[in-house]
Amino acid sequence: MNFTDSPSAHAEIAGTVQDHVDAARLAASLAALARFGGRDDGGVSRETLTDIDLAARRHLIEQARALGCEVSTDDCGNLFFRRPGREDLPPVLTGSHADTQPVGGKYDGAYGVLAGLEVIAALNAAGVETRRPIEVVSWTNEEGSRFGPGAMGSSAFVDPGRLAIYRDAVDPAGVRFGDALDAALTASADVPRLPMPRPMAACVELHIEQGPVLEAANVPLGVVTGIQAVRWFRVDCAGTMAHAGTTPMAVRRDAMAVAVAIAQELYALAPRDAAAGSNELRLTLGRWTVAPNSVNTIPGHVSFTVDMRCLDDAALDRAEAALRAACVRHAQASDAVTVERFFHRTPTHFPGTMLDAIERACTRASEQAGRAMPMRLTSGAFHDAMYLADHCPTAMIFVPSKGGISHNAAEDTDATELFLGAKALAYTVAELACR
Ligand code: GLV
Ligand code: MN
Ligand code: MN
Repeated sequence: MNFTDSPSAHAEIAGTVQDHVDAARLAASLAALARFGGRDDGGVSRETLTDIDLAARRHLIEQARALGCEVSTDDCGNLFFRRPGREDLPPVLTGSHADTQPVGGKYDGAYGVLAGLEVIAALNAAGVETRRPIEVVSWTNEEGSRFGPGAMGSSAFVDPGRLAIYRDAVDPAGVRFGDALDAALTASADVPRLPMPRPMAACVELHIEQGPVLEAANVPLGVVTGIQAVRWFRVDCAGTMAHAGTTPMAVRRDAMAVAVAIAQELYALAPRDAAAGSNELRLTLGRWTVAPNSVNTIPGHVSFTVDMRCLDDAALDRAEAALRAACVRHAQASDAVTVERFFHRTPTHFPGTMLDAIERACTRASEQAGRAMPMRLTSGAFHDAMYLADHCPTAMIFVPSKGGISHNAAEDTDATELFLGAKALAYTVAELACR
């Protein structure tokens, strides 16, 4: 193939690569990775750095090497699969994560990594050499369910100072993230370790939407303009353990009664904020621990997590202030109430030049398939792209999620839409790598 350095030549190359994406090859590769942690109900349980995740990482390394990629890792165990370019310039990066929630689906994260490898396969099949290298990444611990916070790999890549703090994170079984990470690095001792960060020309993450917007509009491809703000809190309520049958209600120091009262105030917040005309505030009280967790002992200690999200950071300021005020007020009925914010991100806005590049790619793929033109939308979930946006021009592509369901074994996307997403990714990555 002849290379000229004009946008129309780049578009022609990108179109050729897009046309070499193979639906059957992509489907087979998604099915193969889903076997690591595959469940009888069709879901996947592959939490970060478990033995199952380590086996999946090894599988990805083998798949990438079979495609001719150079494999590397870094101090946070992120895996990079590199297809060299004609010039040794900063690469175009794509990919996502291979870890799942305790009960997740086949596509959250895995799709972005495997579609990235499918782009490499398409480039190989088309015989195209790009100017820049292309790297496919599988980030460590995006989910944050085993070790908090989420998106550890991508955030440590862009700001390695974070890693020392992450290493002390402990999972519910008492395992340190740092120890689990060292075991993973030992298991991939044959893989060279590169510094964090490294310059990247651009980053594109392809992901399932995990919400209902694209499906409702019957649109197969979404150009993601940004990611809503998120804050995570841990609320600890202390009381006094006592006998459930003998202790009069009036004299109890019941940690659960305090936690429930705070929770009720929080749940009342979202509709109040919506009524005041704010963007939709989303609240989730997802993890509870109760001690001693006995049917006939008044709880002496209750802790719960709060996940708050909104496009509008000011709404999260109001919600955080209300949470803190409720904790102070209800502390009077308890031995102590503390609230700790352990993760926060302001909203992410992807740059217009990246959105335009993605839109061109999605438009061509949608036109070829006779489907509706791409639409622009924001992401309700956070993603590794949120941190890469601090490092290089970044954006995301979404495909629909059936019923808007994710973080659930029933998570699903139509195979033709998974194929279209990979085609859009191939065009975007190839075009960016020609520049
Ligand atoms: C990532 O999975 C999130 O919680 O948004
Ligand atoms: Mn994900
Ligand atoms: Mn997820």
